[in-house]
Amino acid sequence: MTRTQARVGVYGLGTMGSALALNMAEQGIHVAISNRESDWIAPFLAEAGELAIRITGAVELAEFVDAVAQPRVIILMIPSGAPVDAMIKRLIPLLGEEDTVVDAGNADFIDTRRRTAEAAGIHFVGMGVSGGEDGARHGPSMMVGGSDHSWQQLQPILEPIAARFKHDPCVAHVGPDGAGHFVKTVHNGIEYADMQMIAEIYGLLRDGQGWEAPRIGALFSDWAKGKLASFLVETTAKVLQVTDPNSGHPLVDMIRDQAGQKGTGRWTVIEALKLGQSASAIEAAVGARAWSSTKSARLAAATQFPGAEQVDLDPASLENALFAGRVLAHLQGFEVLRAASAEFDWSLDLARIAEIWRAGCIIRSNLLDDLAPLLRQAPERPVLLADGMADLLLPAIPDLRQVVGAAVAAGLPVPALSAGLAWFDTARQGTGTANLIQAQRDAFGVHGFERTDVPGKHHGDWG
Ligand code: 6PG
Repeated sequence: MTRTQARVGVYGLGTMGSALALNMAEQGIHVAISNRESDWIAPFLAEAGELAIRITGAVELAEFVDAVAQPRVIILMIPSGAPVDAMIKRLIPLLGEEDTVVDAGNADFIDTRRRTAEAAGIHFVGMGVSGGEDGARHGPSMMVGGSDHSWQQLQPILEPIAARFKHDPCVAHVGPDGAGHFVKTVHNGIEYADMQMIAEIYGLLRDGQGWEAPRIGALFSDWAKGKLASFLVETTAKVLQVTDPNSGHPLVDMIRDQAGQKGTGRWTVIEALKLGQSASAIEAAVGARAWSSTKSARLAAATQFPGAEQVDLDPASLENALFAGRVLAHLQGFEVLRAASAEFDWSLDLARIAEIWRAGCIIRSNLLDDLAPLLRQAPERPVLLADGMADLLLPAIPDLRQVVGAAVAAGLPVPALSAGLAWFDTARQGTGTANLIQAQRDAFGVHGFERTDVPGKHHGDWG
């Protein structure tokens, strides 16, 4: 076998890069690999076992590039930010104008757009990859940006390694330019909201009803078989039922209540606001993670402002409330995508995006299979107005209202669930209260307003 037979190069042998390379080799795709620390290469090839027959390890960058057949596809699985810029700089002199470099990390789409513009003489693609290590190894969901030329090269490599929903591979060329990373960012925003809403329901059961973690886990296990069927609910059920071997307590009870975040949820919110949207449930989730890190201040405040009370909520109401909250968080995410598509002229196919999220990715759920046809009906219309949305959402809204109301009355925080509900109540209010905002703006700043009866711009005599 000659060295030029690799169909693709994967640079970066961290968890995700290694898993992706092994997935490719397993699917019969010859892959060249390399890594900044070259002493990782031999152990990786040894661990690859019989798959190593389709893997070419290369220590030097030029050797790595040479090992990939032209026109080349080089996938970078390295830390986002400066390392990506540095790698592109090193790669460009070694590549030709038909070659494609893919950044498969979680990058800010603004950086991806800049890199696309700067990477003169090659094709640069930002690709979102979801599903963690297991996904990368056995079938991730992949959201591809960049040019049609690059997609022609990538499609035959990515389709065999993608997760499958029934027979449909969960990969698509979602749009040009930075669209792939933008779509992945919004995926993560929805992921944040979903995780936060699940945590809020867990909090109501733990703090409001005195349930122990394994009992809550068993309830989530039941829910994972119903309308909440999803990877995140399954994962929640699993982690709540694990015992810590050291203490004998549920492991989740031994974990500090301070959540990390790498930025993708925050980017979703920032971009939503720039686009004139409000992804309030996602914002609540990002905010809740930020507040979680102020542990010592929270402990001090708990002594100064004590007094959350109990709630008495039945599991069926909680299940419905979580379902409604999840639907609303997804709708907010899709509205951000719709706004971005219009702003950047990406022609995003929202239904197809929902479809490629049905398997492989972290937010995979039965809900996405229900949302896809609604999104396909009338792509230009808010999905809240799609035929069938009322049937999906309305039966669960009274329970969301009951759960949020009880939590608020008891002083138990449900920021994401309540943000979703407030958004829904605002969105369905034919006549809102912005008339008063306009009157205030005109009264103090002479900003003018439109009247309901006479066209044009008007001012009031506010005295
Ligand atoms: C995925 C995940 C993955 C990861 C993110 C979020 O789709 O596979 O979203 O990308 O979990 O990095 O991480 P943070 O929670 O640390 O922001």
